[in-house]
Amino acid sequence: MHITCRVCGGNVQEFVDLGRQTMANGFLRPEDIDSEHFFRLAVGMCESCTTVQLLEEVPQHLRYHNAYRYHASGSESHRKHFERNARRFMESEPTGPDPFIVEIGCNDGVMLATIAQAGVRHLGVEPSGNVAELARAKGVRVLNEFFDVKTAFAIRAEHGRADVIFGANTICHIADIESLFLGVEALLAPDGVFVFEEPYLGTIVGRTAFDQIYDEHVFYFTVRSVQAIADRFGLELVDVEQIPMHGGEIRYTLARPSRRTPTPAVNALLAEERTRRLAEPDTFERFGNDVKRVRGDLVALLREIRADGKRVVGYGAPGKCTTVTNYCEIGPDLVPFICDSTPSKQGHLVSGSHIPVRPPEAFSQDYPDFALLFAWNHADEIMAKEKSFRDAGGKWILYIPDVHIV
Ligand code: SAH
Ligand code: TYD
Ligand code: ZN
Repeated sequence: MHITCRVCGGNVQEFVDLGRQTMANGFLRPEDIDSEHFFRLAVGMCESCTTVQLLEEVPQHLRYHNAYRYHASGSESHRKHFERNARRFMESEPTGPDPFIVEIGCNDGVMLATIAQAGVRHLGVEPSGNVAELARAKGVRVLNEFFDVKTAFAIRAEHGRADVIFGANTICHIADIESLFLGVEALLAPDGVFVFEEPYLGTIVGRTAFDQIYDEHVFYFTVRSVQAIADRFGLELVDVEQIPMHGGEIRYTLARPSRRTPTPAVNALLAEERTRRLAEPDTFERFGNDVKRVRGDLVALLREIRADGKRVVGYGAPGKCTTVTNYCEIGPDLVPFICDSTPSKQGHLVSGSHIPVRPPEAFSQDYPDFALLFAWNHADEIMAKEKSFRDAGGKWILYIPDVHIV
């Protein structure tokens, strides 16, 4: 199947199909099983601008609402990372006596709380009302709306232009990328920067991290595609930095043309992407085969464990676990429950696969033989926290980059 590119209108050719899926953060109450929204989770690449994107999308009001279950402050590493980000912005970016920092998708205020505490003028734009309230409770100023060209003009009229516009794990969520960039262009100060951090296609392909593919991630960026997007919408890509978040992301910095000298990192990563053939069909063909192999290996291992009469529990219920369990058809028969520290996920079911989510105590009170680590990007933090599981003879199962037991 093919569609028209959301960036340039070119032809997007499908390369992987992860089947019938629901919403990754659609954790539902057992009584709501009948109201699930399904769609086909498939990804393709634009033959013109190389932007990788979903073929079908879920309307944004179904994804982001007053019961949005992802809380950005859920891990120590995220809290530290975003606090560092905030300090970096305040130290090195804003110009003038009264700088203004805008965050698109501020969620529970994990980044902006530090800016607010420092008394710096800021605004979070956050459509999901429940997490917006959590940010407000931290003293963050929040506009409870979707960021688009219309909101951007309204913000400019009320607050003036922004020295920094930031987005983390949000820019790739916004399907109407033209409206987003027209908004950024309207709101950004002449010497301002638009900085965003998003999952990297190079990591997804390199580590077979197919669980990063889900309804909320409409785009899967590379340096090459972000450069094409920036050019198209009148901005310039001036810096890139690889960061370890979510298993491997890139932090892109865009500015108005000719305002900043691009750092050598931009060309260096572009060259690396060419060497890795990150925009070539054979790369995606190999990725598709790797994904199928991981599915086969994981299901075989879980069946074997069940046949041996041993117990498996899932650990961490990130959005990623929805893709994995639904694509691999793993239900409560193979993984009876998943424990997760997020209160709003507990007592709910993973959408589609209907595996119950329970608090971490359900794990520590009665250790299973194996723990399937869905939150693999937090492996260090979780394995350190649950050290006594291993001491008691428990084993971790990981499926990135391939199925293995540690
Ligand atoms: N920045 C946080 C949260 C990422 S989750 C982090 O990196 O952890 C993505 C967030 O973007 C959600 O809170 C969602 O409600 C918000 N969002 C989705 N579409 C948006 C839009 N058009 N404008 C602003 N925020 C949006
Ligand atoms: P994360 O990888 O941050 O998100 P995404 O949904 O974008 O894939 O999700 C990590 C999940 O793991 C989150 O629901 C919280 C949970 N978690 C624990 O249960 N215990 C922990 O110690 C940590 C670090 C995370
Ligand atoms: Zn395109």
